[in-house]
Amino acid sequence: MNTSDQRLVLLISGRGSNMEAFIQGVSDGSIPGSIARVVSNRPGAAGLDIARAAGIDTVTIDHRDYDSREAFDADLAEAVAAADPDLVILAGFMRILTPVFVDRFEGRLLNIHPSLLPLYPGLNTHQRALDNGDTLAGATVHYVTSELDGGPPVLQASVTVQPDDTATTLASRILTLEHQIYPQAAIWHLDGRLRYHAGQAWFDDAPLPATGLQWNEK
Ligand code: GRF
Repeated sequence: MNTSDQRLVLLISGRGSNMEAFIQGVSDGSIPGSIARVVSNRPGAAGLDIARAAGIDTVTIDHRDYDSREAFDADLAEAVAAADPDLVILAGFMRILTPVFVDRFEGRLLNIHPSLLPLYPGLNTHQRALDNGDTLAGATVHYVTSELDGGPPVLQASVTVQPDDTATTLASRILTLEHQIYPQAAIWHLDGRLRYHAGQAWFDDAPLPATGLQWNEK
């Protein structure tokens, strides 16, 4: 299959370091596709400047202009669909999405969450891992369903928690791994090795376990 013309749309809310990893992967040819559009819900997102500097089409849909999540999601979905994506990447997109958006892109919608899902859906994940005395922390790429951070995991990377770790030091070590596992999961999806079917994630036609594949740092 010629995959090089596949189109990615990325959604961001902030600094966009995961988005940058995708820009890098497209530019060095490791991701078999192009970034058709970057959409932000925040006009001031620093990642927008990075995307524009890379020559990528950007659109802002400001959630503060909407009375309901559903109305926002309807316009967001239009802005994404207009770019005709094969794969939609939530890259630090900090809005809860309703079925109005999620159902439209089911099976081609990925997110990265900074915990070892199913542990710690939601916010403050690193502090929660520390407070719980966990020995491992990490990040998970998962297909998105309308359950918050509840869609099937596809790829997970862990780090060992050190005695002097804070939420900040953990976040920084884990972010480095996020920049590796997120493009890798996208590559597998675009290559057809990874897919979503019947509420589950599949890799090479076998259903994945509840924590997805485990990443071994190279
Ligand atoms: C990352 O920690 C990611 O796991 C979470 O939001 C953060 C986004 O960071 N979903 P960035 O904007 O990609 O730098």
